[in-house]
Order: sequence, then structure tokens, then C-alpha cells
Amino acid sequence: MSEGFYSDARLYDRLFPAREAAVDFYRAEADRQGGSVLELGCGTGNKLIPIASDGHPCVGLELSPAMLAEARRKAGERGVELDWVLGDMREFDLGRTFDLVIIAANSLLHLHEAPDLVDCFRSVRRHLAPGGRLVFDVFNPSVQMLAQADGVRRRRDALSFVDPDRGVVHVDVAETYDAAAQVTRGRWYFSTESEADVVVAPLEIRSIFPQELPLLLSLGGLRLVERFGDWSGRPFTGDAAVQLCVCESD
Ligand SMILES: C[S@@+](CC[C@H](N)C(=O)[O-])C[C@H]1O[C@@H](n2cnc3c(N)ncnc32)[C@H](O)[C@@H]1O
Repeated sequence: MSEGFYSDARLYDRLFPAREAAVDFYRAEADRQGGSVLELGCGTGNKLIPIASDGHPCVGLELSPAMLAEARRKAGERGVELDWVLGDMREFDLGRTFDLVIIAANSLLHLHEAPDLVDCFRSVRRHLAPGGRLVFDVFNPSVQMLAQADGVRRRRDALSFVDPDRGVVHVDVAETYDAAAQVTRGRWYFSTESEADVVVAPLEIRSIFPQELPLLLSLGGLRLVERFGDWSGRPFTGDAAVQLCVCESD
């Protein structure tokens, strides 16, 4: 239910420009591991293109044709070579293994059902070379944050951005939290100075709670070996904003 959100890839990149700390973290992980890298839900390549430019053979797998086309365009523009695959991270077979698999920027949270997450982890495991690792980041769902998803449409001033074609774009979000599904269901409204709601897109994001995360991984044949709470590598604690997870085959 979030495909529409990714149908305008340039809008996505302006809304969520690459965060340097996150890009640096994944680049360092690729260097620490050495060798080839597969990113699942690679979007427009904000992490993978810099990793490929460091000399790692890279493959990006992505569900949205629009995001993949933009990734291909950006890589071509920068003269960086890597392979792009249209596919679903729940079930894929690339016929080879990788030293590192990454799933960056909450991409994993587009899988809402527990069996989908387990299928994804099983697919990752089949693609890990001996000694290979899976590294991913998902947000840490705090009760305060989830309680704010009360259905009211609110302006997010911090997310306003300038679009060369449209001028200043303001962003409003209305979210509700479905506690049974552990899914935050949002509608994102993009408005220019002259026109309200030029783009309206749904975005539905699951929460993975800290205690369930290692259990889901283990059902997929993976083991959580490290969990950081920020991009500098601080150990994960309850008040951390993110869960940065490093996993190996069981
Ligand atoms: C929040 S974006 C992150 C993009 C990129 N990883 C980054 O760091 O900028 C999430 C991406 O996951 C993709 N995605 C969602 N479900 C997917 C699936 N089942 N298989 C592959 N990609 C998926 C979306 O199309 C989107 O490009």
C-alpha cells in the first residue's frame, strides 16, 4: 500500500535527501566486510552508488520501476557501474552470493506480515557467502511516537523542500496506528504555494519491536550479532531512535 509513494522518484529524493551519517555507516560496513554488496529495496541508490564508487561490485534490488529507473540514471550520470534488478525482497533468486546484504532506511518495514519478513530473511540467507553479513536499519518504535499517530493532518515544517519545477513544497501527514497489525497507516500531502495537495500518497510502515526482531531473524535462519542505536555505533538502548542491526547466518 505504499507503491504510490515511490512512483515519483525525484520527489522522494528531495523529500529524503541522502543522510551523510547513514551513507558513511553503510560505506564503512561494506569496507569492513570487503567484497560484493547486495542492497534490497535500494530505492534511487543513495547508499549503493557511493558503495559501488568505492570499488565494491554491487547489485541493487528494488520493487518500484520508477525508483530503479532513477537509480540507473543517477549511476550513469556519475559514471558508476553496478547492476540493478527489479524484484521483491521477500522472494528472489539471483543465482549467486554476496559478502554483504544491506536493507537501508526502513525498507524492511514495507513487509507487514511476519511470514513476509521471515521469507525475506530466508532469501537473504540463501544469498550470503560464507562469513557474509546482513546489515539493516529500522526505526525504534517508541510509544510516544506511535501515540502521535492520531489521524490528525499536521504540517511537518522540517520536511518542506524546494522542487525546481514546483517551487517550495510543504508536507502534511495524517497517520493512524493499527496496533493489532503493528502498522502506521499514513497519508502524505504535498502542496505548493499555489496549489494544495498536488500529490497525495499513502505510506504504510510496520513497527518491529526490539524483542521480536531477533526472533523473526532466527526464524529466517539468521542471528543478530550486534545492534547499534545510532550511526556512530553507540550500543542500542530503549531510547535510541534506530535499530542498526548486524546479522550472520545461524
Ligand atoms: C524508504 S525507501 C529506501 C530506499 C533506499 N534504501 C535508501 O536508503 O534511500 C524504501 C524502498 O523500498 C522499496 N520496497 C518496498 N517494498 C519492497 C519489496 N517488497 N521488495 C523490494 N523493494 C521494496 C520501495 O520501493 C522503496 O524504494
